[in-house]
Amino acid sequence: MNELIDKLAQTQLLTKEEIVLLINGITPQLSEYLFSKARKVRENYYGKDVYVRGLIEFTNYCKNDCYYCGIRKSNKNACRYRLTPEEIMECCRTGYDLGFRTFVLQGGEDPEYSDEKIIELIWAIKKDFPDCALTLSVGERMYEAYAAFFGAGADRYLLRHETAAPEHYRRLHPPKMSCEDRKKALFNLKKLGFQTGAGFMVGSPWQTPEYIAEDLLFLKKLQPDMIGIGPFLPHHDTPFAEMGKGSLELTLFLLGMLRLLFPKVLLPATTALGTIAPDGRERGILAGANVVMPNLSPVSVRKKYELYDNKICTGDESAQCRSCLEGRMKSIGYNIVVSRGDALR
Ligand code: 5AD
Ligand code: FES
Repeated sequence: MNELIDKLAQTQLLTKEEIVLLINGITPQLSEYLFSKARKVRENYYGKDVYVRGLIEFTNYCKNDCYYCGIRKSNKNACRYRLTPEEIMECCRTGYDLGFRTFVLQGGEDPEYSDEKIIELIWAIKKDFPDCALTLSVGERMYEAYAAFFGAGADRYLLRHETAAPEHYRRLHPPKMSCEDRKKALFNLKKLGFQTGAGFMVGSPWQTPEYIAEDLLFLKKLQPDMIGIGPFLPHHDTPFAEMGKGSLELTLFLLGMLRLLFPKVLLPATTALGTIAPDGRERGILAGANVVMPNLSPVSVRKKYELYDNKICTGDESAQCRSCLEGRMKSIGYNIVVSRGDALR
């Protein structure tokens, strides 16, 4: 198996069969071998730097009904909130003073936050914080809306593809949503000039090694600047409440593989990874990740942006995720840097 990892490191490519073989052959030894290669590649390009993005979860209203997600429209127990533009600007100000130079506006697909309102928000943030990068994560919108967002100054867009296999996608989403639309949206975002992020959940219901191989090969085609992955974690008020959670080991292994497949990609150690294990994000960095996304949302709403159960950083003690992560990165010999943290191309 080590030879397959050598081949991956040398060619940044594997066949579907080889990917499946690797995933089925995971052992602690193989993982360690992969992680040491992945760290070498990441340190070649990024040294021991870890980029930070201030995450602002600005609305948990959502018109979609994804079966896995805690803020799906059918969850009548979700306590809905929507930050005002003023509140969002305040989050940015706080974040700026803490050293953030990237803000991620993430929300459900909230019709109340129309394209026009998002555009105004982009203008306002770019006007007050011209040296910051702005990332949007507001789901599927029309091509024209994406174009207008880019025109208004948004730099990046995160939209996970969730799974590249249409038949798998259909089991995770209601009929209204389609894998084809999602992929099209991603190619459109790229075409418009966004630094684009895709990604998927690890261990989502019915996921197989074959599906994961399809995810990796789809990403090869898309060539995104960022790839977000994290373990699937059940939420008690969703149809997937009783489904098993994803595996920490597999998520870390895939982070390592992604680093070798995409040497320069921006790869976050996600909140879900930090939720499944107390040292999950540190281990993600040691497997090849190079980004962390501390929560900048007002503490009063954090518990409400509950995509899955037991999400970290939702209590009063988490007011300063920035310093928490600073300490965590230092403890493993890595350093958070104050910069926009653009991808190398
Ligand atoms: N477990 C893990 N990740 C989830 N997401 C949504 N629901 C869950 C869950 N139950 C992820 C999706 C989405 C991102 C914002 O969060 O991949 O794209
Ligand atoms: Fe949020 Fe540690 S990162 S509390």
